[in-house]
Amino acid sequence: MTNATLYQIHGRTAVIILNQPPVNSLGLALRTHLLADLKRAEADESVDAIVLASSGKLFCGGADISEFSSDDALAEPNLPQVCDALEASPKLVVAAVNGLALGGGCELTLACDYRIALPAAKLGLPEVNLGILPGAGGTQRLPRIGGVQLALEMITSGRPLGAAAMLDAGVIDNLYQDGGNFIQAAVDFAQELVAQHKPKRSCFEMSVDTSNISSEIFNEFRAAIARRSRGYYAPERCIQAVEAACELPLAEGLKREHQLFMECLDTPQARAQQHLFFAERGVAKIPGINPKTTATREIRKVAVIGSGTMGGGIAMNFINVGIPTQILDLNGEALERGLGVIRKNYEYTLKKGKLSQAQLDERMALLSGTTDYADIADVDLVIEAVFEKMEIKKQVFKTLDATCKPGAILATNTSTLDVDEIAAETSRPQDVLGLHFFSPANVMRLLEIVRANKTAPDALLTTVQLAQRIKKVPVVSGVCWGFIGNRATDSYLRESMSLILEGASPAQIDKVHTEFGMPMGLPSMVDLAGIDVGILTREDRKAFTTDLDPSHFAILHKLYAKQRYGQKTGRGLYIYEGRDKQEDPEVLELAAEAAKEFGVTRRSPEQISDQEILERTIYPIINEGARILEEGIALRASDIDIVLAYGFGFPIFRGGPMQYADEIGLERVLTALNKYRDTLDKGELWFKPAPLLERLVKEGKTFAQYQA
Ligand code: 3HC
Repeated sequence: MTNATLYQIHGRTAVIILNQPPVNSLGLALRTHLLADLKRAEADESVDAIVLASSGKLFCGGADISEFSSDDALAEPNLPQVCDALEASPKLVVAAVNGLALGGGCELTLACDYRIALPAAKLGLPEVNLGILPGAGGTQRLPRIGGVQLALEMITSGRPLGAAAMLDAGVIDNLYQDGGNFIQAAVDFAQELVAQHKPKRSCFEMSVDTSNISSEIFNEFRAAIARRSRGYYAPERCIQAVEAACELPLAEGLKREHQLFMECLDTPQARAQQHLFFAERGVAKIPGINPKTTATREIRKVAVIGSGTMGGGIAMNFINVGIPTQILDLNGEALERGLGVIRKNYEYTLKKGKLSQAQLDERMALLSGTTDYADIADVDLVIEAVFEKMEIKKQVFKTLDATCKPGAILATNTSTLDVDEIAAETSRPQDVLGLHFFSPANVMRLLEIVRANKTAPDALLTTVQLAQRIKKVPVVSGVCWGFIGNRATDSYLRESMSLILEGASPAQIDKVHTEFGMPMGLPSMVDLAGIDVGILTREDRKAFTTDLDPSHFAILHKLYAKQRYGQKTGRGLYIYEGRDKQEDPEVLELAAEAAKEFGVTRRSPEQISDQEILERTIYPIINEGARILEEGIALRASDIDIVLAYGFGFPIFRGGPMQYADEIGLERVLTALNKYRDTLDKGELWFKPAPLLERLVKEGKTFAQYQA
């Protein structure tokens, strides 16, 4: 057990070093030690300045988030008290910011009198991403030190800013560029300030400079972030807290901040967002595979089979992090086109100023194309991204088996097909797994890693770690139709289409889904993705499932027959003019016609409540999630949440379907499922509760408490 802080004396300066790996999160122990060290330095007459530094690579990751679910976060000394004590210290306090200073870590630095930083340091207030706001003075001190605009931007976006930008904003006082001993530099800086009789700089004696800001700044800000903060509770409270900084003296502003902080802390949204924070960090932990004792395979070269949109996007991930990548396509023209699209993508990023010409050249130099399997014989990882047909995939894997060097990992990007069946085509099923990227593959953070029956542990661990290297969030899934995400959400399309068949309008369903927090409702999503694409995927699925009910897709088939493919053809479930859409009365007629054909009883839209739409389209996702969990397809409930939230637009502020179910109560979900099971025509087929759900309700447990 290390000491939470280290205390050193450098001449007339006391140095307090945060020493709580891995991120110096400010739990009770660290807060207690920090405050005790501060008192010790204050009591030492030979000390006239104090430096606050870190022993780790980053300065401080903020409050200990795991304390938020207990009383420890507020246990004394709490973080606001520590910050107040730093500010009130009679001695000059300098923060030595060597790396990331986030949340409470940033607030500690703001409570110091001066800040010196390394160029790599960054300051940020990411609390909004956890459904809360800075609660240790950040909303009051940052507007005073760095200005209202900067505070609003940082606090509502949660994005950290680099040391150079913070120097420009006057938040950092000294940027240390010399590359020597940073703590010594901070000590020297502190002593210079003492020698120059520089005053303490308490925010209690500062007011916010409002001379250069418009009286409308807060409303303008609200309007500017309205789209991205739709449905979220914390961003508005963040703005209100900064508003309070402009209107109130510090002591009162801090009280207002605390009140708003507490309002946010005890919300389902805060619990959901904090759940996702830990869920994201948990995904890479695979029971039975110890990363410390499992040697991984080195991935120095990658090949992607297929130069379409998916293949190209996948390849970009690797060249972005410096891994040479070949794209193989047997069709030379398609290959050239694919390589051209990648270049265009980078040129677009260059135009937007997010990539330099040198970086573009560097990345393109790592990319090459080939039409010959012999050229990829020496790669360490192959990802097949060809057409989603089993026969084609099998052929590719046979060829890979015959061509690739021993030990190469052979991956398929299938989104639904049986990876065991594909692996069985090779003589090395231990090297075969699924890497299911989501479109656009260079943008979406989710990666489902499909572990087949015979996948070797080291092959699995290698891809999990590689996924993190390319900045993806890897979730391990077992083999089943659609893996975790497509399987869990299958019912979402099915029930939405059923409801239209029964009499709900697409707009009604869209409204319920967007109010729930989805980026768009299912009907709009179908139109955007393309009805033709949906129909073709469904045709493909027919080959290996038998439980499809044609009535659900009847309306889509009718639209397909009329070549109404959605937004791209100007007509689908809606009529489009550009991006503007309006209801299509003909869709309602087609729905009535289809209902007649399939003997479905129609109701008027008024008879179908928003609650029914919500329960029928969202609760089956939870129910299927329970099956996925019980069958061991997902390792834990939070993995399902990550897949749905990061890959399928499930609202982040709901924390994913399993967390949402835990929050509203599993009994409520079970009761609703039973109701639809008993009352709907095909209720027994589609709404039968998963045994795990029934069991957890009986035991009074949550999905989070479930252990296989
Ligand atoms: N509290 C508790 N645990 C934390 C933590 C925190 N603030 N920050 C990180 N951790 C844990 C992670 O869960 C992980 O634990 P594990 O090893 O058991 O899985 C471990 O520390 C390492 O974290 P990462 O894997 O994320 O390490 P990285 O090096 O990739 O990233 C980081 C480091 C950038 C600091 C990232 O962890 C991060 O973004 N942390 C959260 C930052 C944040 O949101 N701070 C605000 C907290 S709320 C607050 O301060 C309220 C205040 O205003 C009152």
